[in-house]
Amino acid sequence: MTKPKIIMDVDTGTDDAVALTLAMLGGEVDLLGVTTVNGNLELKLTTDNTLRVVDFCGKGEEIKVYSGCEYPLVSTLSPTSAQSLRPIPKREGVKVPFIMHADHLPLPETSLKAQEKRAVVWLIETVMASQPGTVTIVALGPLTNIAAAMRAEPAFASRLQEIVLMGGGDRIGNASAAAEFNIWADPEAAEIVLQSGCKISLIPLDATHEAEVSAAQAAEIEAIGSKEAKFVAEVIRERIGGYSERDPELAAKQTAPLHDALALCYFLHPECITKKIETVCHVDVSGGVCYGRTMVDRRANLVMEEPNCTFALGADREWFLGWLMGILKKAAQG
Ligand code: RIB
Ligand code: CA
Repeated sequence: MTKPKIIMDVDTGTDDAVALTLAMLGGEVDLLGVTTVNGNLELKLTTDNTLRVVDFCGKGEEIKVYSGCEYPLVSTLSPTSAQSLRPIPKREGVKVPFIMHADHLPLPETSLKAQEKRAVVWLIETVMASQPGTVTIVALGPLTNIAAAMRAEPAFASRLQEIVLMGGGDRIGNASAAAEFNIWADPEAAEIVLQSGCKISLIPLDATHEAEVSAAQAAEIEAIGSKEAKFVAEVIRERIGGYSERDPELAAKQTAPLHDALALCYFLHPECITKKIETVCHVDVSGGVCYGRTMVDRRANLVMEEPNCTFALGADREWFLGWLMGILKKAAQG
C-alpha cells in the first residue's frame, strides 16, 4: 500500500520533536522533507533542533531539512523574532508561556546541516512537481512558510491534498488570553492560509488539552527502553514541569499536552478526534487585544460564508496514547 506523502513544517520545539520522531519511526508516511520556521525559538535554533531529531532517529541520509522564514510576515509580537518591536512585558515571576526552557532539545549535537535551498522555494518546487491532490502539509508551527509559498505561487494551495495544522483555540488561548501560539506568532500568515481555498483541518487547543499525557504515562513510555522512548518520556516530563509552573489546573493533574503529535495522529487516524465541526474560521488581524485569535463561527444557520475548515473540538486521549506507545514499542522491537 502506498503511504501518504507529507511535508512537515515545524518550529522544533519539544512537541514538534515528538511528532517528528513518531513520523520517522512509525513508517506510516512518506515524509518528503521537513521545513523549519521561526516560532518556539528563533529560526537557527528550530532548525538545529529539527536536525538533531532527524539525526537521533537515524534518518539523516533520507530526510532533508529546509530552513524557512526567519520572521513573521507582518506581526512584531513574537519575542523569538529578532524583528520584535514589542517584546511582551514580563511580570516578575510570571513565565512567558511558550518559551522553551532551553534553546536545545536534550539530544546530542549533530553535524547535519540544513539544505542550501530555502524552505519556501523547496515547498513550491516540490508541491508544484507533485500529482495534484497527493501531498499534505502537516504544519506544526507559525504558518509563515506556507503563506509565503501561497503568495509566491498562486497555484500552490490548489495543488495540495490538505493542510493539517496544529493551531488555534475556540475557547482556549495560550500565547494570550485570546490566542493560541502558532496563530498568534504570525496571524496574517494564518489568515492567508485559512482563506486559501485549500482543504484545511485545525487541531486546536480545545482538542490537544483533551489528550494530555501524565507523568505515570511518561514512566510507561520510558519503560519501553529504547533511546527514542526515553527521549519522548524526558520531553513529556519537561513539558509537565513547564506547564505546572504556569497553569494551576495542569499542575494539579501533573499532565501536559503534546499538541503537535496529536495533529500528526489526526492526519493518519482521524478517529482520534472525538468532535469536529465544518466551520468558518477567520483570524483576528486587527491588532487589538484579540490579535491572533481564531474566530470560529458556530451559529449553524446564520453563517454567511461557506465553511473553510474542519475544526477539532475534542480528542480521545487513550486512542492517542495507544498510537504513540504502539509506534515506540514496535520501533524498539526493531
Ligand atoms: O500552541 C502550541 C503550539 O505552539 C505547538 O505547535 C508548540 O510547538 C508551539 O509551536
Ligand atoms: Ca510547534
